[in-house]
Amino acid sequence: MSTNSIIIAPSILSADFSKLQDEVDSIEKFSDWLQVDVMDGHFVPNLSFGAPVAKWMKTDLLIDIHLMVANPADRVDEFIAMGAKNITFHAEVVEGTDRTALIQKIRDAGATAGIAINPETPLSAVDDVVGDIDLLLVMSVHPGFGGQSFITDVLDKVRAAHAAHPDLMIQMDGGVDDKTAPDCIAAGANNLVSGSYIFGAEDREEAIAALRG
Ligand code: DX5
Repeated sequence: MSTNSIIIAPSILSADFSKLQDEVDSIEKFSDWLQVDVMDGHFVPNLSFGAPVAKWMKTDLLIDIHLMVANPADRVDEFIAMGAKNITFHAEVVEGTDRTALIQKIRDAGATAGIAINPETPLSAVDDVVGDIDLLLVMSVHPGFGGQSFITDVLDKVRAAHAAHPDLMIQMDGGVDDKTAPDCIAAGANNLVSGSYIFGAEDREEAIAALRG
């Protein structure tokens, strides 16, 4: 896969919230998407922020909402209103026909729809929708916090998903840095979320270039 087709999505979870717009501005020119990690303290142990905070960020980047929440359908409208163009929910909290309904709700609102699977969730858990979704997010950490270590085993799921659905956008999130990004790309991921590596870097432009390979 040519690395120039790789989407880089900095995650603002690791940004300095006291100067959020400056942080967004500092990566905007070199990035493609901006990932907003929405955590409710129920589906994941951490509590981050919702649309009332995220709406204040102004960016030309594609706003990508990662809903780590127990009731993702309840959050769609507010994030669409603030300009979200991709919304990803977790397979672990939405089942059966509720999934197709939520995917349709997101699409009807003008965004692409993604489904996420945690490290312990098998790829087979999304067999019912994987042929229809716009994006599969394969988590490479247990969601809730930035700065965790990459779980290498999840690459098997990336390889299997890419082999079965070569045109599917596969996003990886968690512990993605200059060391793990090449393995993600080689496995078939073409959309990389990275938080602590980018926002912790001396030179953010250089860090993002290193992710692209
Ligand atoms: C899940 C979050 C984090 C974040 C990226 O807890 O989704 O994965 O976006 O964090 P880093 O890149 O610091 O692991």
